Amino acid sequence: MSENSFDLVVIGAGPGGYVCAIRAAQLGLKVACIEKEFIGGTCLNVGCIPSKALLESSELYSQAKENFKDHGIGIENLALDIKQFMARKDKVVKQLTGGVAMLFKKNKITSLMGEATLNAGKSITIKGKEGSQTVTGKSVVIATGSVPVNIPSFPFDGKRIIDSTGALSLSEVPKSLIIVGGGIIGLELGSVYLRLGTQVTVLEAFDRIAPSMDTETGTAFQKILTKQGMKFSLKAKVVSAKADAKAVSVVVEDETGKTQTLTSDYLLVSVGRKPYTQGLGLESVGIKPDAKGRIPVTANFETQADGVYAIGDVIAGPMLAHKAMEEGVAVAQIIAGKKGHINYNLIPSVIYTWPEVAWVGLTEEQAKEAGLNYKAFKFPFLAVGRAIASGEKDGFIKMLADKNTDRILGAHILGPRASEMISELVVAMEFGAKASDLANISHAHPTLTEGIKEAALGLTTGTIHL
Ligand code: FAD
Ligand code: NAI
Repeated sequence: MSENSFDLVVIGAGPGGYVCAIRAAQLGLKVACIEKEFIGGTCLNVGCIPSKALLESSELYSQAKENFKDHGIGIENLALDIKQFMARKDKVVKQLTGGVAMLFKKNKITSLMGEATLNAGKSITIKGKEGSQTVTGKSVVIATGSVPVNIPSFPFDGKRIIDSTGALSLSEVPKSLIIVGGGIIGLELGSVYLRLGTQVTVLEAFDRIAPSMDTETGTAFQKILTKQGMKFSLKAKVVSAKADAKAVSVVVEDETGKTQTLTSDYLLVSVGRKPYTQGLGLESVGIKPDAKGRIPVTANFETQADGVYAIGDVIAGPMLAHKAMEEGVAVAQIIAGKKGHINYNLIPSVIYTWPEVAWVGLTEEQAKEAGLNYKAFKFPFLAVGRAIASGEKDGFIKMLADKNTDRILGAHILGPRASEMISELVVAMEFGAKASDLANISHAHPTLTEGIKEAALGLTTGTIHL
C-alpha cells in the first residue's frame, strides 16, 4: 500500500471521527483522519467540554455566594476573575484535545490537517496550510458534524449576536443576556451567566422549554430555573434584532400578536444545529442530503456512494457526542468485517444545569401515545437522606414501567448528579430489567441512587421513606 493509500480515511476528528479512527486502527486497519479546524471537533473544542468546564466554575461561584453560609462557611470579598474563569476552560480543552492527538500517535493513525473534498473513486483532496494533497481509502467515513442554525433576519455577527461558541468565550460578565431558544444550549449557557449575576431572559417559540423532555419533568425544571432567577417567555416569536457597539435590541411578538422591544448586552441564538457538509463535494460522489441536510445512511451507516459511510451529527438521530462515539465504534467494526450495533432507544439525554436533568427511554407522553398500559411513580429528593445532607433537595426521580410486565419503560431524573445516576437506568433497561429488579437491589446508603430504588419500590411494593 502506498504512503497515501489507506484502508480507511475518516473525515472529521470530532467524537464520531476520532473514536472511529482509533477503533479501526485497533482492529488492524491502516487509518488516516482528516481535520480542517480542531482535533476533538465541536465536542472537545466548542461544545460539551468547554461548556461543562464553565458550568462547573459558575456552579462553584454560585455555591460560594449563595450556599456556603448555610454550612457555616463565610467568605469575605468573594470575587470573580472572568479571565481566569475562561483560561481554566481553555486549559481543560487543551488537555483533552492534546490527549486525542496522543491517542492518534499511540494507535499509529495518520493525522492530516486540512479541508477534505471527496472525488470519485474514494479519493480525497485535502487543502491545508501547506498546500494540497490527495489520499485514497478503501473505505471512507464522513464525520463532519454540525454547525449552529443561523436565522437570516438576525444573523450572527460574532460580537453582540452570538452563537454557543461566542457565549463560551465572552471577555466580560454581561449585565443582561437574551437567549433565543430554550433548548439544551440556551439552558446550560444561560445557567452559566445567570450564576455569575447576569439577567437572563429566554425566548422560546414552543409552549415549554426543552420540548423533547417529559412534560411533567420539564414543568418542574422550569419552576426551579425560574426560582433561580431565569426569566422565560414562551410561545415567543422573535421578529427582529439589531445590534450596535454596546447592546442588542430585540423585537418579540407574544402569542396574542403584541410586540415589545427588549434590550440586552448580548443575544445568544441557540435554536438548534444543522448537519455540516459544505465543501465536501457530496454531489460529485452521488450523495444527496435529505431535506434537513443530513446524509442518508443504511443500518450499516453506508451512504449512497459505494464504500463511503457517515456517522455522528451529519446523519439522523440525536446530536449527541456519545451517540456519535457509539456510531464511530460500530462503523469501524463493520468496515473491519465485525458486528456493530447501537440501541437507539436507550441513548441517554442530559442537561447539565443545576439541578441536572437526565432521561432515557419513553416520556410519559410517548407511553400514552403508544397506548401502553403503564404505571408511573415519582420519588422526591426531599426524602433522600444524602440529598438532604448535601442541601440538594429539589427534584425527583420519575420512573415508568409496563403495568403488565413490570418492565421499565423510561426514567426521568431531575436532581443533583442526574447525569451520573441515569447510567443505572440505562444498564437496567438494556438488560430488560423490571422495576422490581431495581427495587430488590442493594443501593449504598447514604447515596442519591437510593432514590432510584425508592422510585422502583413505589412502582412495586411501596416506598419505605415516603
Ligand atoms: P463534530 O464534533 O462537529 O466534529 C466534526 C469535525 O469535522 C469538526 O472538527 C470539523 O472541523 C470537521 N470537518 C467538517 N468538515 C470537514 C472537512 N470537509 N474536512 C475536514 N474536516 C472537516 N453532546 C453531548 O453528548 N453532551 C454534551 O454535554 C454536549 N454539549 C454540547 C455543548 C455545546 C455548546 C454544543 C455546541 C454541542 C454539545 N454537544 C453535546 C453536542 C456534541 O458536541 C456533538 O453531538 C458532537 O460533537 C458530534 O460529533 P461529530 O463527531 O459528529 O461532529
Ligand atoms: P435544541 O434543539 O436543544 O433547542 C432549540 C430550542 O429552540 C427548542 O426549544 C426550539 O423549540 C427553540 N426554537 C427553535 N426556533 C426558535 C425560534 N425561532 N425562536 C425561539 N425559539 C426557537 O438546540 P440547541 O439548544 O441549539 O442545541 C443543539 C443541539 O446540541 C442539541 O439538540 C443537542 O443535540 C446538542 N447539545 C447537547 C448538550 C447536552 O447533551 N448536554 C448540550 C448542548 C448541546
